[in-house]
Amino acid sequence: MNKVTAAITAVGKYVPDYILTNKELETMVETNDEWIESRTGIKERRILKDAGQGTSFLAIKSAENLIEKSNLDPKEIELVILCTATPDMQAASTGAYVATKIGAVNAFSFDLESACSSFLYGLSVAAGYIESGRYKKILLIGADKNSSMIDYTDRATCIIFGDGAGAVLVEPTTDGNGLQDEYMRSDGSGREFLNVAAGGSVLPATEETVKERLHFARQDGKTVFKNAVFNMADVCEKVLDRNGMKKKDIDWLVAHQANKRIVEATARRINLESSKVMLNIQNYGNTTSATLPLLLADYEKQLKKGDKLILAAFGGGFSWGSIYFKWCYNS
Ligand code: UT7
Repeated sequence: MNKVTAAITAVGKYVPDYILTNKELETMVETNDEWIESRTGIKERRILKDAGQGTSFLAIKSAENLIEKSNLDPKEIELVILCTATPDMQAASTGAYVATKIGAVNAFSFDLESACSSFLYGLSVAAGYIESGRYKKILLIGADKNSSMIDYTDRATCIIFGDGAGAVLVEPTTDGNGLQDEYMRSDGSGREFLNVAAGGSVLPATEETVKERLHFARQDGKTVFKNAVFNMADVCEKVLDRNGMKKKDIDWLVAHQANKRIVEATARRINLESSKVMLNIQNYGNTTSATLPLLLADYEKQLKKGDKLILAAFGGGFSWGSIYFKWCYNS
C-alpha cells in the first residue's frame, strides 16, 4: 500500500461584509490610495463591525461554509485546530468554542498561534496527526479579527490588515497527493520588530499601557519586509531543491499575503511567472492566519487534482516556512 499522506478534501471561507477602502483610510490617516496600492497591492480590506463578535464568529462562518459545500457531518470531525493570532479571550480556548458552535461535538480542539505563519504550521501539525494514523478528520481553520489590535491612527499598520477566515478539511489519502514535504523555521530575535507589546504576561494591561497605546500591533515595516522577502524565498528554494523540482514543475505559488511586493519577490527568486502566483491581497489586505486558506478557497475552481503547490508564509516571531503540496481533487 502507498504511504498515507495528508490531503485537503474541502475548503470554506468567510469575510465580513464591511469594506474598508483606501479612500476611506485617506479620511483617517495621512495616506493615499495611490501610495497604498503601489506599495502593498491592497485596494480594500474587510472589517468585522458587529459588536461583541470576535475571531470565533469569522471561524464559525468559514467552517459552516465548508460543511455546507462538502455535506460534511460535523459529528465526524475528530479535531478542530484554530490558527489565530487574535483569540476571542486569553486563557479560554477559542477553538473549543468554535467546535461546539459548529456541532463538532465529538472533536477536541485547540488554538495554534504563530502570527502570520499560524495556518502553515497548523497544516504541518494536522498532517502529522493524519500521517501517524491517530486522527482521520481534522478541521483546520485560519481566522483573525486583526481590526481588534489595529491602531487606526497608525498608518504603518492600519492600511495593511483586514479580517477574515478560511477553513480546510484534512484527511488521509494513499493516492500520492497531499503534503509531500515541508521546511519550517523560526527566529525569536525578530520579536521586537512586530508585536503587540502589552496585554500578555510580560506586560499585563494597566491604565498606563492603555494610555500609551501598547495594546495595538506595531511593526518596523522595513525590517519585517526585508526578512520576509529573504526568508520566504529561501525556504521555497530549499523545498524545491530537496524535491528536485524546477520552475516548470510548479503549478501554483500560495504565499502569505502581507504585501504584493513580498509575494512578487518570492516568485522572482524561484523564477515563477505571475500567472502561477495566487493573489487576493487586493481584496482583503493581510488577514494573518487566514491568507492561505482564503487563497485556496478563492482559487479552488482553478485547482486540479495533482497540481503542485508551493505554500509559504512569514510572520511575527519571526516564524516562516514552506510546504510542498499536491492538490487532491477537482471541483
Ligand atoms: O505578515 C507579516 C507582517 N507584516 C509585513 O509583512 C509588512 C512588511 N512591510 C511592509 O509591507 C512595508 O514595509 C510597508 C507597507 C509597511 C511600508 O512600505 P515601505 O515601502 O517599506 O515604506 P517606508 O516605511 O519605507 O516609507 C516610505 C515613505 C516614507 O516617506 P519618506 O520618508 O520617503 O518621505 C514614509 O513616511 O512612505 C511614507 N509612508 C506612507 N505614505 C503614505 C509610510 N507609510 C505611509 C502610508 N501612506 N501609509
